[in-house]
Amino acid sequence: MSALDKALTINELMAIAKRRVPKQFFDYADSGSWTEGTYRANSEDFSQIKLRQRVAVNMEGRTLATTICGEQASMPVALAPTGFTGMQSADGEIKAARAAEKFGVPFTLSTMSICSIEDVAENTGKPFWFQLYMMRDRGFIERLIDRAKAAKCSALVLTMDLQILGQRHKDLRNGMSAPPKFTPRFVFEMARKPQWAMQMLGTKRHTFRNIVGHVDAAGDLSKLSAWTASQFDPALSWKEIAWVKERFGGPVIVKGILDPEDARQAVAHGADGIIVSNHGGRQLDGAPSSIRVLPEIVDAVGNSTDVYVDGGIRSGQDVLKAMALGAKGTFIGRAFLWGLGAGGEAGVTRALEIIRRELDITMALCGERDIKAVGLHNIYSIDLPPRNSPLGANG
Ligand code: FNR
Repeated sequence: MSALDKALTINELMAIAKRRVPKQFFDYADSGSWTEGTYRANSEDFSQIKLRQRVAVNMEGRTLATTICGEQASMPVALAPTGFTGMQSADGEIKAARAAEKFGVPFTLSTMSICSIEDVAENTGKPFWFQLYMMRDRGFIERLIDRAKAAKCSALVLTMDLQILGQRHKDLRNGMSAPPKFTPRFVFEMARKPQWAMQMLGTKRHTFRNIVGHVDAAGDLSKLSAWTASQFDPALSWKEIAWVKERFGGPVIVKGILDPEDARQAVAHGADGIIVSNHGGRQLDGAPSSIRVLPEIVDAVGNSTDVYVDGGIRSGQDVLKAMALGAKGTFIGRAFLWGLGAGGEAGVTRALEIIRRELDITMALCGERDIKAVGLHNIYSIDLPPRNSPLGANG
């Protein structure tokens, strides 16, 4: 039995990934901004929520199936957009998209992916979702949206919480880049991680293929990082949602909402769904965990749009808690990235299997047979202090 098959938890996949993935890329995933307080809170706060056990309820014929953004999903979990995924494992975005497709859950490709939209489309059979960062170069963004349309992407995820980059100390210290710089330290890492290195040598996909070759100013690698750094548009406003929707012509989900007022704005400006998210604790350190703010955002806009959540989900129990607090579905980032680093496509499948089994058993022990019926009645207690605002409960 391989280490992958033996892994029973997402944390075990993380331990395997740590052995197999070069430090700078493992650290890139396992990091938050500044003190990493929000990164930690995202998962720790889930453990403050206690579930209500019920017995003598017929548990036969259980179903986890649901719809996410109007599409069938085998469980209420989607793969979140993550940059540099093709550096956790060669061709990582293709591997993750294939695992998601076979499992019947949505995959979201990041703007900052290594494999391009076209790479993923050529290597998968069903439409996937594309995540968009608004950049100053609107011509590039127009072409990017058109490319997503041409690849038949069925939804756009518009990320609004990264117009300026939160500082992650590990990345600065490691000198993270794609492709990696061949420093003596990195060559040493390659020798210690031969499987990763061999697979990486076997692919041509080593840099941001959504960008390189698609903008003159980032035509070669030396110009790429300067171009990217200057491109995240600090003047982004709510008006852009309508512009993106019109250009794309399909559903646009707004990601990075952490405040009820922002949630109302997103809905008022046409969002077809929102993702409650603090970017996995990678942006505003000191912001509350996603699960903590979920109830007040569901309260504010849950009747007018679908509310999804990500951040800190490491088990099927976490998924059930999010659903009980009103989410229509969840997104996972590191949970699938660690699976990918641990074992490529099979590792992502393993991560999804772990979450599905935990979710199914938890749902049964809570006395539920249908994930869509899960709600506040499944929660026993929430040991998280309420929002403390001098402005009142909803700011
Ligand atoms: C991210 N995230 C992210 N979000 C996005 O909209 N575009 C991106 O390119 C990235 N890149 C990225 C890289 C890495 C390594 C991580 C861990 C995260 C944020 C991501 O979509 C999601 O919000 C978080 O990952 C959710 O938290 P968990 O599940 O990782 O705890």
